[in-house]
Amino acid sequence: MGEGKISLDLRTSDRRLIGRSGLDFAQWRESYPELVTALIGPAPGYAALPDQQVSDLLHWVEPLKGGCDDLVLLGIGGSGLGARMLNCAFIEPASRKPGHPRLHVVDNVDPRRLRHLLGELDPHRTLVNVITKSGSTAETMASFAVVRGWLREALGKGYGERVVAVTDPDLGDLRALATAEGYRTFDVPSDVGGRFSVLSPVGLVPAALLGIDARELLAGARAMRTATGNPDWRKNPALALALALHQHHLAGRRIVSVMPYADGLRDFALWFAQLWAESLGKRRRGTDPYGPTPQAALGVTDQHSQLQLYVDGPKDKVVWLLEVTDTGDDVRVPPQTDEYSSLGYLGGRGLGELLRAELKGTVLALLRAGTPSLVLTLTALDERSLGSLVYLCQAAVSITGKLAVVNVYDQPGVEEGKRTTYAYMGREGYIERLAEDELLLAGTDPDRRLHRADALVSEA
Ligand code: PA5
Repeated sequence: MGEGKISLDLRTSDRRLIGRSGLDFAQWRESYPELVTALIGPAPGYAALPDQQVSDLLHWVEPLKGGCDDLVLLGIGGSGLGARMLNCAFIEPASRKPGHPRLHVVDNVDPRRLRHLLGELDPHRTLVNVITKSGSTAETMASFAVVRGWLREALGKGYGERVVAVTDPDLGDLRALATAEGYRTFDVPSDVGGRFSVLSPVGLVPAALLGIDARELLAGARAMRTATGNPDWRKNPALALALALHQHHLAGRRIVSVMPYADGLRDFALWFAQLWAESLGKRRRGTDPYGPTPQAALGVTDQHSQLQLYVDGPKDKVVWLLEVTDTGDDVRVPPQTDEYSSLGYLGGRGLGELLRAELKGTVLALLRAGTPSLVLTLTALDERSLGSLVYLCQAAVSITGKLAVVNVYDQPGVEEGKRTTYAYMGREGYIERLAEDELLLAGTDPDRRLHRADALVSEA
């Protein structure tokens, strides 16, 4: 495995280039050692994950090779986005590695999608991976009940052999169901929350099934864990990222656009958005709420969509660009005649070359407009570097929590939404709040006549 490196370039956020509200970390210099201890004392649960043993998991996966074509993953939020990110990074769209299944993540509960998916799949060649730490999330449990019925109808009592559950070691209904029905199970450590769990069995079980190297992911995370203990931000990209994004937030740049220049990192941006939003969007005692708004984008695609807003729109954004230097063998444009000027100059050039030129174009367009950016470079997109990047972001969110004085490990707003859903679906213990919720929704307009716009679209 080659030497991998991750570097974060802050130049285009610096006050010498951006102006007075650009970055200057001097005010936090004294706090660096304390900030990095946000990671070690008391250590968040995710900090122990890079040391876990995965031999049991790999041993279990081995005989499954070649035995199934499709893997249906049922899990939402932190229980689904990690696997999505890994799949996007290492498996070509709609494809699969030889001997391994194709991934289908069912996180939403749109009936149309699940109906179509199950209509396409062969239950004899499908494996179902249900992931929920609490073992009770409505979306996951509802979809699982449907998929379980589908499997049982086709396979009879032995259907449980095609189910692998990832859940809390002791608590929750999924744990109880798995024990009763004999599913293979893997544990989510109790001290690891959903959005911090991609390097636990939550991400590693689907990774191993898909043929992604779980050991290398953990090795990359271990290497970054060492770096994240360094109080010198020049040697600690997690500290640098946290300081930079926090300072931008304080300067009124409350939107963080995450814009990787690599298709393989498209879903990384979604994973990061959840990590950042759910961890940092919090009420604070005695002061304003905190919360940078993450926005997922993709270079170069979004140069023809969002970039106009980033350049000329309100100065309330910082753009975090990510590039991968090694794009593999470049794809060359065949030689062109000079007959068409929009083709001629491209002849003999590589698409990787064009991608890099486009990234430079974006950095400079932003800089000229006074929109700050950060550029993170990965030498390659492999398991080791993605494991490092994941750990870097998790450490950065922990440090930011310390800077902003918020608890990054809870999500009361999400829990509130879950309780209301339970009430509307008639779950025991939650129904009592229905009347109160309905009253709140009705407000001063019980018939909802004053606040409605209707259009008939069924007639020409
Ligand atoms: O990050 C989180 O904690 C959440 O996004 C959860 O992962 C999500 O709500 C799903 O929860 P569970 O794994 O309990 O089904």
